[in-house]
Amino acid sequence: MSGFPEVRPRRLRSSAAMRRLVAETTLEPRQLILPMFVREGAREPIAISSMPGVYQHTRDTARKAIAEAAQAGLGGVMLFGIPEHKDETGSGGLDPDGILNVAIRDAASEAGDALLVMSDLCLDEFTSHGHCGVLDAQGRVDNDATLKLYAEMGVAQAAAGAHIVGPSGMMDGQVGVVRKALDAAGYLDTVILAYAVKYASSFYGPFREAVDSSLQGDRKTYQQDGGNAREALREADLDIAEGADLVMVKPALAYLDIIRQVRDHVNVPVAAYNISGEYAMVEAAAANGWIDRERAILETLTSIRRAGADQILTYWATEAAELLARR
Ligand code: PBG
Repeated sequence: MSGFPEVRPRRLRSSAAMRRLVAETTLEPRQLILPMFVREGAREPIAISSMPGVYQHTRDTARKAIAEAAQAGLGGVMLFGIPEHKDETGSGGLDPDGILNVAIRDAASEAGDALLVMSDLCLDEFTSHGHCGVLDAQGRVDNDATLKLYAEMGVAQAAAGAHIVGPSGMMDGQVGVVRKALDAAGYLDTVILAYAVKYASSFYGPFREAVDSSLQGDRKTYQQDGGNAREALREADLDIAEGADLVMVKPALAYLDIIRQVRDHVNVPVAAYNISGEYAMVEAAAANGWIDRERAILETLTSIRRAGADQILTYWATEAAELLARR
């Protein structure tokens, strides 16, 4: 039989059972985290047009979605608050009765032990100018003045019942100040999921609609340049030295190589955020009938896991868990 192959990799693909036996990458509901938006004063959930299927929740519908997430076996939810009023310093983010802290309290009581409650620790949803920090007299984002607010915001979130806080503003030193403030307030067990590696990305577009952002300009003085990989390792190292328990890479799809490099470089869990624009691309193509939506969702999430992410934040989390259960 010369000329025919002696080695036949197809043998291991010959049936569904065979493929299941040799599958290298696992995707499980416990690895998925659902980001959620809760809007102050909302009476009805408000659809986000650039993210079909995602809503600005009312407090009630948020509770329902959290119960569903727990039922689906997700690892957790990541909460974002949308305040009725924004101001220069983002004071609504620090207020114990501000929408995010209220939503954290609701979520913690709904979730019980079934689900971890995580909160975005950043000012951009709360500032009138839409930046992640406060501005100095020249209109630049003031790193150190912002740190003081992050420290207070972290303690308020822990007090509201967040199990995990997620500093996401890319200010230098943010993880360290939040860790110190949590410890000083007695929240020794509150975990920090650091958005350690965060690129200034076009793919955040739909998120800006999701949180009614009024941002003018860009975030390039604090978020990273998309061409830089070494810098990602430096940011991850710094955050771990400052006390990060988990580190995150964001976005995911245009940065799969960065997820892999960070995973190989550090010894803490590495999460990745499958962000709004990544969600919107698949949804838009599927709505046009150009791709098979459910297969595309699972393929996307599998690729992020294969790149090395231990946890994935994804707007498909609950649905993906249901797809996995059916598979
Ligand atoms: C900052 C924050 C952003 C996202 C998560 N946390 C916006 C930004 O950095 O511009 C984006 C998430 C997404 O696009 O899905 N609070």
